[in-house]
Amino acid sequence: MNRDQPLNTRIELAGVPLASPITLLSGCVGFCEELIHLEGFDFSSVGAIFLKGTTLEARRGNPPPRVAETCGGMLNAIGLQNPGARHVVDVILPTIQHLPTRFFANIAGSSVEDYGEVARIFDNSPVDGIEVNISCPNVKEGGAAFGSDPRIAARVVDEVKRATSKPVITKLSPNVTDITQVARAVMDAGTDAISAINTVMGLAIDLKNRTPKLGNGQGGLSGPAIKPVALLHVWRIHQIAAARGIPIVGQGGITTAGDAMEFILVGATAVGLGTALFRNPMASAAILAGMTDWLRHFGADNFGQLKGTLRWPT
Ligand SMILES: Cc1cc2nc3c(=O)[nH]c(=O)nc-3n(C[C@H](O)[C@H](O)[C@H](O)COP(=O)(O)O)c2cc1C
Repeated sequence: MNRDQPLNTRIELAGVPLASPITLLSGCVGFCEELIHLEGFDFSSVGAIFLKGTTLEARRGNPPPRVAETCGGMLNAIGLQNPGARHVVDVILPTIQHLPTRFFANIAGSSVEDYGEVARIFDNSPVDGIEVNISCPNVKEGGAAFGSDPRIAARVVDEVKRATSKPVITKLSPNVTDITQVARAVMDAGTDAISAINTVMGLAIDLKNRTPKLGNGQGGLSGPAIKPVALLHVWRIHQIAAARGIPIVGQGGITTAGDAMEFILVGATAVGLGTALFRNPMASAAILAGMTDWLRHFGADNFGQLKGTLRWPT
């Protein structure tokens, strides 16, 4: 096999052409404040960047500590600290929109209406699409996460779709009994793509002090520890998303090219790097190179040919 033969790393996500299937995940590169100063950072290896979770009003976030290392992962409870949607669009986006990659906003809210208002603000901005984080508490209606009830998840997506003509990507929470019910509901509501999975709820304990390690008590687990959970969720979502042509951004614990390829095999069109960036913010270039080696290994010309080709035992 000729290693020098160029392979097609391009993909399309909800109508948006990406130069690479690798995305950088929300909350893991902020608003690119540090990335733009990172010497030698290879933007050509990054198909898109999901910006930090943004709400209508600015939020101060949770009390520290906000992150704790755990076995094979990391627990976080940032509490959606952000400067508010208007500030992101008016002040931050003009400083990063020239970068040679695509950007998706990541929006959150305390009520269904909040999501619509934030989406409207981003609709009138240069972002390429809007990712909807439905793992936040529905403060106005009892406090359970929007994403834990398929009907409420669908209402959020419906509200966002009405507020924007940009592609909408719904980010699903693994903290539910049956993720396919939520996936089906948000697809019925018109989502253009799905991101899976968000973090898995967990608790880390400071034994000597008999306290949680996080200032918020509980938090969301990410990193390699959640990869098997994420792979199964993506595979199950793929069983219903494929027939509707809805692409999936697979994520949860990817640190190597092999990890990323596993997500392609279970049905992901694009993959996301999150926690891995805390150890190596430059990881995307090596992972993309490794992924193209896997393409050659399988005799494929592009990632789409391998999508969903896991050989499930019959
Ligand atoms: C510190 C931190 C902050 C995060 N903030 C957000 C956020 O604002 N919005 C969101 O949808 N997901 C957020 N996430 C979840 C990630 O985008 C990603 O879905 C998750 O961490 C799983 O991928 P990973 O195991 O590769 O990190 C955050 C994760 C971490 C670790």
